[in-house]
Amino acid sequence: MRTLLIAGNWKLNPTTVEAASALAEGVKNGLGAATDVHVAIAPPFVFLTQIDGVLSGSPIGLSGQDMYWENSGAFTGEISGPMLVDVGCTHVILGHSERRHGQGETNAQVNAKLKAALGVKLIPIVCIGETKDERLAEQTEAVLLEQLSGSLAGLSPEEMAGVVLAYEPVWAIGTGLTASPEQAQAAHAYIRGWLTQVFGEATAARVVVQYGGSVKPDNAIELLSCPDIDGALVGGAALKAADFLAIIKAGQ
Ligand code: G3P
Repeated sequence: MRTLLIAGNWKLNPTTVEAASALAEGVKNGLGAATDVHVAIAPPFVFLTQIDGVLSGSPIGLSGQDMYWENSGAFTGEISGPMLVDVGCTHVILGHSERRHGQGETNAQVNAKLKAALGVKLIPIVCIGETKDERLAEQTEAVLLEQLSGSLAGLSPEEMAGVVLAYEPVWAIGTGLTASPEQAQAAHAYIRGWLTQVFGEATAARVVVQYGGSVKPDNAIELLSCPDIDGALVGGAALKAADFLAIIKAGQ
């Protein structure tokens, strides 16, 4: 019922348009025309136009790594939804933990961005996840509950069905510490349960919930075979075409 989404979040990498184009080219050529999973990459904003050209004719989606909630105006340094659409984006990552914890982004801000993204028909990938201290204090579900209810407030079931969630435990991001399939599945089952309660079973069954946090070629199959894990949001391993392609293969 749900098609897996494997997305590569390049974060602040690579540092040249040439290297970014070569990476996108490598993924495009390795993937070919047909996939039975959805694939997207999220390069830095300044490379989007160029990468959109590279991806022409391929099924790979193009994603922003963030966006602002206003469409235009006096907001220095911001990038809006219509701008992302105009340069070829299909997706946008929102509420990544590096923005929540590094830039103090709140659930209310993520919610405003989410509504703006839906307004311009971008597929939002909304990130949630607990820190190591929160997990050790057995606060994982409480944190997820706060992030889910705050970030997704005010959505209709139909809108919710078009949102992708990414469960990314902060302690597993870029650390090499992957959540075990049991830990990840338990969090995903909690998220699915919350979606069922709030939006109903039919909607909850449609929402794609990715796992993110040190996903690598050698742990992808195990994670992606969990019943409530519908894909991966990949950081470091998305910076090597061969590794990213191996993760995509694990989802097929
Ligand atoms: O958004 C992807 C992410 O934060 C995971 O990064 O490097 O642990 O795969 P990484």
